[in-house]
Amino acid sequence: MLAGLSCEALMMTVPTDALTTTLTVEADAVACALPRRARIAFIGGGNVARSMIGGLLARGTEASTLAVSEPDAGLRAALVNDFRIAAHAGNPEAIADAVLWVLAVKPQVLRAVCHELAPLAQQARPLVVTLAAGIPIAAVRRWLLADSGSAPAIVRAMPNTPALLGAGATALCANAQVSPAQRTQVQALFEAVGTAVWVDDETLMDTVTATSGSGPAYVFALMEAMQAAAVAQGLPAATARALIAQTVLGAGRMLVESGEDAATLRRRVTSPGGVTEQALRCFAEDGFDTLLARAIAAATTRGAELAAQYAD
Ligand SMILES: NC(=O)c1ccc[n+]([C@@H]2O[C@H](COP(=O)([O-])OP(=O)(O)OC[C@H]3O[C@@H](n4cnc5c(N)ncnc54)[C@H](OP(=O)(O)O)[C@@H]3O)[C@@H](O)[C@H]2O)c1
Repeated sequence: MLAGLSCEALMMTVPTDALTTTLTVEADAVACALPRRARIAFIGGGNVARSMIGGLLARGTEASTLAVSEPDAGLRAALVNDFRIAAHAGNPEAIADAVLWVLAVKPQVLRAVCHELAPLAQQARPLVVTLAAGIPIAAVRRWLLADSGSAPAIVRAMPNTPALLGAGATALCANAQVSPAQRTQVQALFEAVGTAVWVDDETLMDTVTATSGSGPAYVFALMEAMQAAAVAQGLPAATARALIAQTVLGAGRMLVESGEDAATLRRRVTSPGGVTEQALRCFAEDGFDTLLARAIAAATTRGAELAAQYAD
């Protein structure tokens, strides 16, 4: 959380004719607004961009400060309809006046997008935030430099889709060109849609992707399996769904709000010889921990493969 940080710390370079539009993040986290007319452009209007845009608007960001570029006309229309923000077919149009560019395209198209925007990046000197899984900051920097110019400020972010509900988890990693004020600004941007933490060692970002980026899918898979098991024993599907969803939500809240670690909370609900112990014995016998370790390792490797494939 950003409590205690000054408004000045949240300021970034904006045009001097900047007027009144503000990006407001959670009031209890940041008592002041981000810079006036701090326009934010999303390049790519897919799942994650939609999550972030939805989360930002829900928390008081004015729609007029956001723009998005999206080649698909249907998605563009949906963005305008759902969020009332400016949606452009072309990337240069979207970034006009923007001081913060969020590159929300798939890793395989990031290079082309950066090459297209490189001359504009040299002129505008924006803070560039890249969401592409597996693509290192060094690759984005190289592509944006387009063989010349000075290195841009780049933050590599790995959010996840619960950002739509303001419940996202984002890891952030910055290059040396990112100023402390810009770091604070990016943190505020992602804290508007959940929790944001900094990872200093960029090599760990593939692990982050495999943990929290893909993590919601693991939890959905767990919930699917729990529901199937409960329904197989006769529980109505709607009843199982309601109970399981609230169980996951409640357990997550306990972990976040108690300050205890997961092992302590697990032990607390596991009476010796009781019901929970029997279930956890099955987990252990069938290698639950090993399975998750293998899954996260495989996902981490995939992140590295993507980097090798797209970041040369
Ligand atoms: N999904 C996740 O949970 C998650 C989590 C963390 C990070 N990420 C990362 O976030 C990024 C976005 O993921 P996503 O799931 O939101 O992908 P997505 O739904 O495919 O969104 C990307 C959007 O970019 C558009 N696009 C393609 N080429 C473009 C171009 N040249 N200029 C502008 N827009 C272009 C695509 O349009 P078309 O469909 O018409 O091609 C698509 O709508 C990825 O790099 C991913 O690695 C995703």
